[in-house]
Amino acid sequence: MTSSNPPKLFQPIKVGDVQLQHHIVLAPLTRLRANAKHVHGDLALDYYTQRASTPGTLLISEGTSLRAEAGGWSNEPHIHTDEQVAGWKRITDAVHAKGSYMFCQIFAHGRAAYPEALEPLGYDIVGPSPIPIQGRPTPRELTVKEIKEYVCWFAEAAHNAVHRAGFDGVEVHFANGYLLNQFIDDGSNHRTDEYGGSIENRCRFPLEVLDAVVKTVGQSKVAFRVSPWEIFQDMGMKDPVPTYTYLIKKILEDFPLLAYLHAIERRVKGVTVAGSNSEDKEYDESKNFLRQLWKPRPFISAGLFNRETALERAETEGDLIAFGRLFISNPDLPLRLKKNLPLTPYNRETFYVPESPVGYIDYPFYTEEPVNGVDQLGWRLVASWRCRRFQLAFLCIRVRSQSCQSIRVRWTVNSPSCIRRASERRCGSNPSHDSNNRLLGSWYPTLSIDIYTADDQSVVVVLRLNDMLHI
Ligand SMILES: Cc1cc2nc3c(=O)[nH]c(=O)nc-3n(C[C@H](O)[C@H](O)[C@H](O)COP(=O)(O)O)c2cc1C
Repeated sequence: MTSSNPPKLFQPIKVGDVQLQHHIVLAPLTRLRANAKHVHGDLALDYYTQRASTPGTLLISEGTSLRAEAGGWSNEPHIHTDEQVAGWKRITDAVHAKGSYMFCQIFAHGRAAYPEALEPLGYDIVGPSPIPIQGRPTPRELTVKEIKEYVCWFAEAAHNAVHRAGFDGVEVHFANGYLLNQFIDDGSNHRTDEYGGSIENRCRFPLEVLDAVVKTVGQSKVAFRVSPWEIFQDMGMKDPVPTYTYLIKKILEDFPLLAYLHAIERRVKGVTVAGSNSEDKEYDESKNFLRQLWKPRPFISAGLFNRETALERAETEGDLIAFGRLFISNPDLPLRLKKNLPLTPYNRETFYVPESPVGYIDYPFYTEEPVNGVDQLGWRLVASWRCRRFQLAFLCIRVRSQSCQSIRVRWTVNSPSCIRRASERRCGSNPSHDSNNRLLGSWYPTLSIDIYTADDQSVVVVLRLNDMLHI
């Protein structure tokens, strides 16, 4: 590694049809912030836009159910109705406007569905076989006709995601104990027809899904996620290697040009309580059979990474690294990792609070204190304004400079009710630029506005405050 050559983690890489600027990826993260109709609104728009703030970042959406029958949680997003598709389209447009990219993780819950989500609609909990997750309802075995129907639903979801909602591709979820994983795993699949028993039969449904999805959107827009070592939701084959070796080899044979393979590390146990045990600490990830089979195609590793391990893995194996929990609490994670800035710790309590902004869009961007008027990113503070205890209906900031590209406006609001919101916007190419931020609510926050510039030019800043009430 030389100084003229940045670490691989921060080097560009092409994945599918998109050119990424680095190897850091937002892992799929269920957050339950959609509404009761499984439609994403302003909350998710903010959340994903924040995480797209470093141009050239790949975001993978949270698990998105194909449709109501395949769902399993309230407040998870779906991608079926016009309204659901339109909600996603606003998000992908905003992500693209930031110069970043987004794949939609499409899935079906199968036996992992919660009855509260399906029973009121009159849908059954289904699975490959009538084998429940411990302590949960016994699923009804899917008929062959229903399996074929699911294949069509996956294709339809891929169509909606790529052709209507503007995603750059879909990640088909084979992992974490959901429907396709339940068919692959010999513990949950005891079928005696062509979808159970032998390795070939257990892999048939996932392969048929990939085939249908590829036919709908093309290989370069399709990826898949696997977790051979997963024990979450009662997964866990004695030896997953033969099954997954067959699956990957068959996929490579049939679809050699897929966008990427996304693998959850062997060290990770469960999606909520990730941890490692002593046996797995001994495991040498560089020998990961999935990567050996997949190389030299794009390979995303996920699970328990920090800056140091991500740098090392990208350097030695060329992997892209998906970050989950650290990306929850650091909306500007790629930038922070690149600049080696301190990271905000995450709060597990707010991972899954339905429709709440708390713990979702209120994690701050890095707020560097300028030293001698220059922040740690090298930007010069040219104007600064603070106001305590106020109500603000509308704020207009107008910044004029010779090169608008080199102006950054940051505003931060701290309220007594702990809603803390930091936002940042770079100016577009329009030489006379307005930046509007509408703040709603009747609490009395502290508002801070800082204007930075990247070069030495002169800058004119006008703050126009409408309906402003100082208290
Ligand atoms: C709150 C939360 C929600 C998750 N939701 C999903 C999901 O929707 N789909 C999925 O494949 N994995 C999901 N995962 C697993 C993550 O994608 C990731 O594999 C895991 O968090 C380990 O990575 P980390 O150590 O960087 O957090 C979730 C994990 C967390 C913590």
